[in-house]
Amino acid sequence: QLLDRRSMSRRIRKAYLDFFAGKGHSVIAGASLVPDNDPTVLFTTAGMHPLVPYLMGEAHPAGKRLCDAQLCVRTQDIDEVGDNTHLTCFEMMGNWSLGDYFKKGAIEMSFEFLTKVLGIPLEKFAVTCFEGDSDAPRDNESADIWHSLGVPRERIGFLPKAKNWWGPAGKTGPCGPDTEMFYWVGPSELPPAGSNPATDDPNWMEIWNDVFMQYNKKEDGTFEPLAQQNVDTGMGLERVAAVLQKVSNVYETDSLKKILAKVLELRKSTDALKDIEVKAARIMTDHLKAATFMIADGVKPSNVDQGYVLRRLIRRAIRSARQLGLNAEQGLCSFVSSEVIATYASAYPKLRQKEDEIRATLDTEEQQFSKALHEGQKQFDKLTEPLQKGQIIDGQSVFHLYDTYGFPVELTKEMATERELKIDEAGFAAAFEAHQKLSRAGAEKRFAGGLADTSDETTKLHTATHLLNQALRTVLGDHVFQKGSNITAERLRFDFSHPDKMTPEQIKKAEELVNEAIKADAPVSYSVMTVDEAKAQGAIGVFGDKYGEKVKVYTMGTFSKEICGGPHVARTGMLGSFKIQKEESSSSGVRRIKAIVSGGPAKIEVAGEKN
Ligand code: SER
Repeated sequence: QLLDRRSMSRRIRKAYLDFFAGKGHSVIAGASLVPDNDPTVLFTTAGMHPLVPYLMGEAHPAGKRLCDAQLCVRTQDIDEVGDNTHLTCFEMMGNWSLGDYFKKGAIEMSFEFLTKVLGIPLEKFAVTCFEGDSDAPRDNESADIWHSLGVPRERIGFLPKAKNWWGPAGKTGPCGPDTEMFYWVGPSELPPAGSNPATDDPNWMEIWNDVFMQYNKKEDGTFEPLAQQNVDTGMGLERVAAVLQKVSNVYETDSLKKILAKVLELRKSTDALKDIEVKAARIMTDHLKAATFMIADGVKPSNVDQGYVLRRLIRRAIRSARQLGLNAEQGLCSFVSSEVIATYASAYPKLRQKEDEIRATLDTEEQQFSKALHEGQKQFDKLTEPLQKGQIIDGQSVFHLYDTYGFPVELTKEMATERELKIDEAGFAAAFEAHQKLSRAGAEKRFAGGLADTSDETTKLHTATHLLNQALRTVLGDHVFQKGSNITAERLRFDFSHPDKMTPEQIKKAEELVNEAIKADAPVSYSVMTVDEAKAQGAIGVFGDKYGEKVKVYTMGTFSKEICGGPHVARTGMLGSFKIQKEESSSSGVRRIKAIVSGGPAKIEVAGEKN
C-alpha cells in the first residue's frame, strides 16, 4: 500500500508519525520556517532547531518522546539545486528523546521503521559510526547494536568528527556523535563485498541521521556532558521517497514531480528538454516551493534577512523560466505555487489559509522583477553601444548586470551573441567568486553566535516582549497580534499587526504600562495545558493546529497570559526598566518596535512551573 506512488510522500510521512506515536512519542507541530527568538539563523534548518531549549534540559510540555515533520530551508547549497539530490527546501522527519531512550532504543526504532515498515532490503543498507577522537570515544556501542540487529560488519563504517558528529548548529550548544544510515545507489544492483559509506562515499545516499546529543560545546571550544542524554534524529523525506520509488533524483518523486509537471505545462515547445532546461525547470520547482512555504510563514520579499532570500529565490525562478522560453508573464510563479499548495496543504493547512497572500506576494514580486529585467536590458544596451563586433564585455560589467539587475550570466551571453559580442567569462567568474567569499563570510559570522541563545539578557528581553505584547493590545486594541519576534542580547524586536504609525502618546503609554508591570514585580510561571484549555483561559499567542496538543502558558501576575516555550525570568522586577527605542513600519499593516531593558539585577532566576 505504501508503494502506491501517487501519494507516497504523504504515506511515508504518516507512517513515520504513526510508528513513533505507537512507540510513545507525542506528535508535535512542526515550527515556523522563521525561527522565533533566534537571531543567529535565518531559517529553521533542522527539526532540532526549535527544540534547543529542551535539549539543554528544559521540560517539554508534550513529554520526553517527541516526533514531527519539519519543513526546512537550507540556502548554503543554492548553487547546487538542479542536480539530483540538492534542494533548498525539504522535509525532515524527526524523533527525539529528551533524556529518555538512548543509543539502543534509537537505533532499534530506526532499523525497525526502515526494514519492517518501509521494507528497505538489508542488502542495500549500510551505516556509519563515529570513529572517536580526544573529545569523545569511538562509538563501538552503536556499531554493536547495528550488528546485533543483522547489519554485517563490512557494512558498518567508522568516520571522524567531520562526518559523524552533528552540531552544534551554531558556535555553542548541544551536539554529539551520530550514526548515519545509507542506501545503495551505485551502478550495480547490489553493493560489492566490503563496500560501505566510509570506503565508497558517492554510491551510498544518506537517508537518516541519529544524533546522540550528550555534549554541550562551550564558547572555548571544549565539550561538557549535558545534564541529560538526548537523541535527535532527522530523516530526509524526499530522499527516502526517491529510494522507495526507485528513481535516481528527487524531482521524480511523487510530490516534486507534480510541481515540475506544472512548470512544464507552461512550456509551449514539445521538443525534448536540453540539460540547461532540465536544470531550469528543477530550479523553478524547488525555489517556488520554498517561496510558497516562506510566504505562508510570514516572510515578505525585501532586501534584508529572510526577505532577501525569498526575493532571490523568486527572481531565480523567474530567470529560470526565461531559460525555459517562458516570459516572466503575470502570474507565472503563482501558477506553479498553486500546485505546491495543492500538493502539501493536507500536511500543512497553513498553505490553504494563506493562499491569497501567497498569490498576491508572488504576483507583485514578479511584476517588479519584470521591471528590473527591463532596466537591465537598458543598461546592457548602454554598455554595448560603443562596442564593435567581436569585442568583449568585461567581467565586472557582466557581474554588475548579474548582481544589480539579476541577469544570469547565460542571459548576458545570449544577448551578447545576438550582437556578435563576447563576454569575459573568466573575469565574471573572478568577480562572482570574490562576492561569494564575502557573502559566505557574512553568513558564517551570522551563524557563529550560537543557537537559540538562552542567556540572561535574551531571557529578560523575551519576558519584556510578552509585557509589550499585552501593553500594545491594551493601548491599541485587540487587533494587535504578534507577527514576528527577534531577540538579540542587546534588544528586542517585535512585529505586530496594526495599520497606522503609533502616535508619540501611544508609544509613551505602552512603555509606561510595561514599566508598571515591571515595578509590580509580579511572579512569572507556566502551566502545561491543551490548546483548547489555553484558548478558554484567554491566553494569547500562536496556537498549534494539532488537536489535543499540549502547550506551555506563561502567566505574568495578572498582566499577561501567553502561549510560549520560554524561558522567562521568575519575576517581572528582574527586567529593571523598559524603553522603546524605535517604532517603524515593518511591512504593510505590520508595525515594528525595537526596545531595550536595563538596570535589572546581574543574576536572574528562571520562571518555573506553577505548583
Ligand atoms: N540534526 C540532525 C541533522 O540535521 C538530525 O536531525 O541531520
